[in-house]
Amino acid sequence: MTAARKCRLVVLISGRGSNLQAILDQATSGELPVEVAAVISNRPGVQGLERARQASVPALELDHQNYPDRPEFEAALITLIDRQQPDLVILAGFMRVLTAGFTEHYRGRLFNIHPSLLPKFRGLHTHERAIDAEESEHGATIHFVTAELDGGPIIVQARVPVLPEDDPDTLAARVLEQEHRLYPQAIRWFAEGRLQLKGEQVWFDGKLLAEPLRLDDFVD
Ligand code: GAR
Repeated sequence: MTAARKCRLVVLISGRGSNLQAILDQATSGELPVEVAAVISNRPGVQGLERARQASVPALELDHQNYPDRPEFEAALITLIDRQQPDLVILAGFMRVLTAGFTEHYRGRLFNIHPSLLPKFRGLHTHERAIDAEESEHGATIHFVTAELDGGPIIVQARVPVLPEDDPDTLAARVLEQEHRLYPQAIRWFAEGRLQLKGEQVWFDGKLLAEPLRLDDFVD
């Protein structure tokens, strides 16, 4: 990626696409040096596809239900993604488990956002589980994707307090606001060549990351 060629991004979604919207907004305004090459949903007709169309970005559907098994769906997904020649592929509310065949193909250039402070609360219902566990802090994580579900090397996290009056919806809303700052920042770092995955370790600005970056340390 050079000044002449923007980082090409493919975004995989399954639904609402509010993280996608935050990225599209920053790409359109020029704050984020990326070209969103395509948005792909495994669920037809979802809101995120409409958001892509509104931004004049190709909105593609690949319904996993049309494939007999996970490997065949993933093979078709790889073909569709690679046609876009992306530098970076991101999961933004993409709710399908991916096999090692897929994650290895995109090793070092595949991000996920997860709504918890990983390694806490992998999987679903993270906000409810954080409240039930009486956590005082919760948040969201961007990580490189590996075959281990929600287990890949962590890049950056955003933290929010858990308040006594919170229910899962109020907590989810507080986390989501941070997600919309978090994803563009991680993408920006990648696009600027500041982030690499080497083996199982994340390097930032040429140094091994001893612990996850914290969004609040970077005032934008
Ligand atoms: C986000 O909260 C994201 O962190 C979560 O799904 C939501 C998608 O919202 N992802 C996962 O739970 C992945 N395991 P969006 O479609 O409005 O961006």
